[in-house]
Amino acid sequence: MNEAIRPGPESPPQGQQMGSRSPELSVVVPTFNERDNVTVLYRRLEATLAGIAWEVVFVDDNSPDGTWDVVRALARRDSRVRCIRRIGRRGLSGACIEGILASSAPYAAVIDADLQHDETQLPRMLSLLMSGQAELVVGSRYIEGYKSEGFNNQRAGASALATEVAKQVLRVEIADPMSGFFMIRRDRFEELAPKLSVHGFKILLDVVASAHGTLRAVEVPYTFGARQHGESKLDSMVALDFIGLVLAKLTNDIVSLRFILFAMVGGIGLVVHLSTLFLALELFNVPFAEAQAAGALVAMTSNFILNNFLTYRDQRLKGFAIVRGLIAFYIVCSVGLLANVGVAFSVYDQEPIWWLAGLAGALMGVVWNYAMSGLFVWRK
Ligand code: GDD
Ligand code: MN
Repeated sequence: MNEAIRPGPESPPQGQQMGSRSPELSVVVPTFNERDNVTVLYRRLEATLAGIAWEVVFVDDNSPDGTWDVVRALARRDSRVRCIRRIGRRGLSGACIEGILASSAPYAAVIDADLQHDETQLPRMLSLLMSGQAELVVGSRYIEGYKSEGFNNQRAGASALATEVAKQVLRVEIADPMSGFFMIRRDRFEELAPKLSVHGFKILLDVVASAHGTLRAVEVPYTFGARQHGESKLDSMVALDFIGLVLAKLTNDIVSLRFILFAMVGGIGLVVHLSTLFLALELFNVPFAEAQAAGALVAMTSNFILNNFLTYRDQRLKGFAIVRGLIAFYIVCSVGLLANVGVAFSVYDQEPIWWLAGLAGALMGVVWNYAMSGLFVWRK
């Protein structure tokens, strides 16, 4: 009973300037292995946001380098600093969503921890929101005034292509929907939050596409700087993730991003299967039955690896769990194949149209594999 009325920490934290004023702006910083960057970022925020009631929410996915520990130390000295340490979860979009929803400030910004974004734009972004000129302000690398130091050619090309696809396919109007640097009115964000995917990397694209043109957006150019410490976490999986997000938004989120990624991996598996079959038959003269079995085994294995790296990257199996998961995946897919063939036969029985029967079987297989993988392989 006593606990309920026990007062909080006795002395107010040191180094706090805005004391009791509730924050106007919440700066959300997703972090993964950014130990050497967070203190620098905090100091820069402190300098650039002087005069504004702000707070910073670091959302750390239990970084092995102990980023959360450094953030905690900052938080002990300054109560404007908060740390959400997530255990057993990974993901940039999910971290940003969680950080924004954890604050009560009317305006929320998202900025990378690695100092590649230009935090000195924040006051200007905030005034654009406060004056009602915009509901979303995007730090943009593609409009006039933009300069980039942290982009290599290959990445710049991929980014430009993705931006073009997003504009054409999802009718997203802004110049840089791939930006990880933006500020938004929290009430508008909260309306959109139930539609957002926690699995991807492209939170801003998701926000803009989900709003269907109802968000008044303004862009401010900034210099995308070079990373100071540590390394980028975005790998080649980002491309597949992007395609998945575009497809999910096209179906109006009836089909989840995770299912689309799973199905895309299944499609790749088909190519792997056929290639293995071809090689076994043509190059090694393996009898058809064995070659077909080898194709299935290679495809299942590569599907498992891809799903572990992409579809379920937020709950990736590691160490011995990989062996257990792989065996469970083989079993799930084998039963899925029976379901596939069973459905195809019964459809063909009703309506002898080969492609319809094949399609129905394949759909049954992928839905089964997806549902059962979630239950028995990447269970949580
Ligand atoms: N909590 C959490 N969980 N944070 C993460 C995760 C994760 O799984 N992955 C990355 N982050 C954090 C990083 O610590 C960093 O602060 C920020 O998210 C961006 O990650 P980087 O790894 O530095 O990404 P980048 O520089 O390659 O990509 C940036 O530019 C892209 C556009 O080209 C980001 O701003 C992207 O959002 C942006 O799309
Ligand atoms: Mn970066």
